[in-house]
Amino acid sequence: MTSFNEKVVLVTGSGRGIGRELALRFARDGAHVVVNYFRNRKPAEQTADEIRSLGRESLVVKANVGDLDALAELYAKIESTFGGLDVLVHNAASGYNRPAMEQRPKGWKWTMDINARSLLFGAQHAARLMEKRGGGSIVALSSLGSVRVLPEYVVVGTSKAAIEALVRYLGVELGPKNIVVNAVSPGMVMTDALLHFDTYREGGTDLIREVTEKTPSGRLCTPADVADLVCFLASPAAKMICGQTVVMDGGHSLLAR
Ligand SMILES: NC(=O)c1ccc[n+]([C@@H]2O[C@H](COP(=O)([O-])OP(=O)(O)OC[C@H]3O[C@@H](n4cnc5c(N)ncnc54)[C@H](OP(=O)(O)O)[C@@H]3O)[C@@H](O)[C@H]2O)c1
Repeated sequence: MTSFNEKVVLVTGSGRGIGRELALRFARDGAHVVVNYFRNRKPAEQTADEIRSLGRESLVVKANVGDLDALAELYAKIESTFGGLDVLVHNAASGYNRPAMEQRPKGWKWTMDINARSLLFGAQHAARLMEKRGGGSIVALSSLGSVRVLPEYVVVGTSKAAIEALVRYLGVELGPKNIVVNAVSPGMVMTDALLHFDTYREGGTDLIREVTEKTPSGRLCTPADVADLVCFLASPAAKMICGQTVVMDGGHSLLAR
């Protein structure tokens, strides 16, 4: 276990899914955690209550990270509550899943603003708060759709490719400030996000069974697997890893078919 004792960690989109697991893991490892949500207050409050029951502080902030004013307010609240920030986990994501020929400008803007633009401008705020602590870590959540073609994933996949490029640029620019920036690209993880795929629709393909069968490690990634890797990348052990995207998919994407 890596100690994040008394560190302040922001996990965007941490009321549900992988973000919730990440928030709880950092809290178990000693951190105070900022829980950010957009639409679902109740699960965010529940996550914060669990963090407090572990003896850590938790600040719950509603903010659409795709809105630049809301993003600035999120960081202003962190600064007034904790005075600084040690770790940003860029986890929140949204998107319009449909074929490329059916995408519309609104879906492109929505998805790019929430998934990618928020990393660039969130990192500007985060870096300022991290500099006050002498450094920090940023870990972004990407996905295999950044480099592979997944059904109906064109806009999210493109936003994830932007995240991976941003991580390289931010890693280089923030390295001299002792801020380490990397990304994690997990394979399929069982969360509500999968409800948007056609595997759950009538007549849809059974994507989950298919991916499990074609994964050399024999199972899908869990949110706990993702938390293991994110915490490693946010820890001092990863300080010489700069601007990388680490794939964690049990070998699934290595197979030609
Ligand atoms: N699940 C997978 O198979 C998988 C695989 C690879 C990568 N990932 C990546 O891992 C991350 C987490 O995925 P997940 O499966 O846990 O997703 P999820 O279950 O769909 O949860 C999304 C989270 O993001 C928050 N969110 C959405 N839009 C937001 C916005 N505009 N501002 C702030 N928060 C917002 C949601 O908050 P509200 O509930 O308040 O809306 C929710 O907490 C994402 O970056 C995703 O792309 C997931």
